[in-house]
Amino acid sequence: MKTLCVMEVIEVKTIGVLTSGGDAPGMNAAIRAVVRTACESGMRVMGIRRGYKGLVEGDMYEMNLRSVSDIIHRGGTMLYSARCPEFADPEVQDKAVEVCKEFGLEGIVAIGGDGTFKGARALTLKGIPCIGIPGTIDNDIASCDHTIGYDTALNTVMAMVDRIRDTTESHDRCSVVEVMGRNAGYLALNAGLAIGATCILIPEVDYDIDSYIIERMKRTQKTGKEHFVIVVAEGVKGIDAHSLAKYIEQKTGVESRATILGHVQRGGSPSVRDRVLASQMGNYAVQLLKNDIGNRVVASCKEKIVDYDIIEALNMKKTIDLDLYRIANEISI
Ligand code: ADP
Ligand code: F6P
Repeated sequence: MKTLCVMEVIEVKTIGVLTSGGDAPGMNAAIRAVVRTACESGMRVMGIRRGYKGLVEGDMYEMNLRSVSDIIHRGGTMLYSARCPEFADPEVQDKAVEVCKEFGLEGIVAIGGDGTFKGARALTLKGIPCIGIPGTIDNDIASCDHTIGYDTALNTVMAMVDRIRDTTESHDRCSVVEVMGRNAGYLALNAGLAIGATCILIPEVDYDIDSYIIERMKRTQKTGKEHFVIVVAEGVKGIDAHSLAKYIEQKTGVESRATILGHVQRGGSPSVRDRVLASQMGNYAVQLLKNDIGNRVVASCKEKIVDYDIIEALNMKKTIDLDLYRIANEISI
């Protein structure tokens, strides 16, 4: 008697995950969520090193549940990140599509900022469905209330400026502190309010140094204040922290120092909020790919995780909370 054996061919979907642009605390937690969700959904997942650069070069490896053990609490990104400006070139994108075919990638989760989303959109249009996850300390993604890394960076800035304040107070000085944020003032405004800065300069608000900073300092001096912290967003045009410190010293007689916080703001263990957000977003992104949905960015909107078409998201406008600016000025006097 012959036995007929029918083999069922189960198609296993393969997806890739990459981090691109400036790194942000919480990217590892997002990678972990992507890998674990994919594995638990029966998918294969490839970790692509160094963003689009690694994709074009085919620099990737298969990940499993254990590949992402012990990373949830780590800053940086275990997949490394890189800027790859040539990825804007359609020919380079075609090369990436070839690589995707070679490795069997049927979808990619790209963690980064707006630039990363543009790359994800280009790949989707060329047949590789991509999902963007917002990861940047700048919080400058219009579609998203809070990006991964922003909360940690805020807390880092606060902790660093609290230390600067100690020594500023001991010496009756003025400290001018430059905070990151690229062209946006979210980090500077919120951190500035949290540390009680006398003045906050952000790109979104026009300023006049004499009336805003010098007059304000003189007024508070009359009320007995002898030390000052001024927060300046790096995106503010026309003055840098060192020149501002010199100008303040010359105009007020208060000895002044400038501190550029720099990349300390991008590192460190992610906060609870960033770990939770990253886990939610990573899980959400894989659900979309599992359902054959691409060309979307994941976002947080009023404490909920949602998704938008990439172009729709890129065209959105985000405004800064000017009421926070008003409050900061009203109470840090
Ligand atoms: P972010 O993603 O944080 O905005 P970048 O602006 O540096 O950071 O962008 C990250 C990467 O995304 C770039 O290095 C490049 O590889 C890719 N990218 C940026 N702009 C485009 C674009 N117009 N088309 C395709 N890829 C892009
Ligand atoms: O986008 C994150 C960010 O840290 C910005 O705040 C800053 O302007 C920029 O990246 C710095 O980039 P790099 O690490 O290439 O100097």
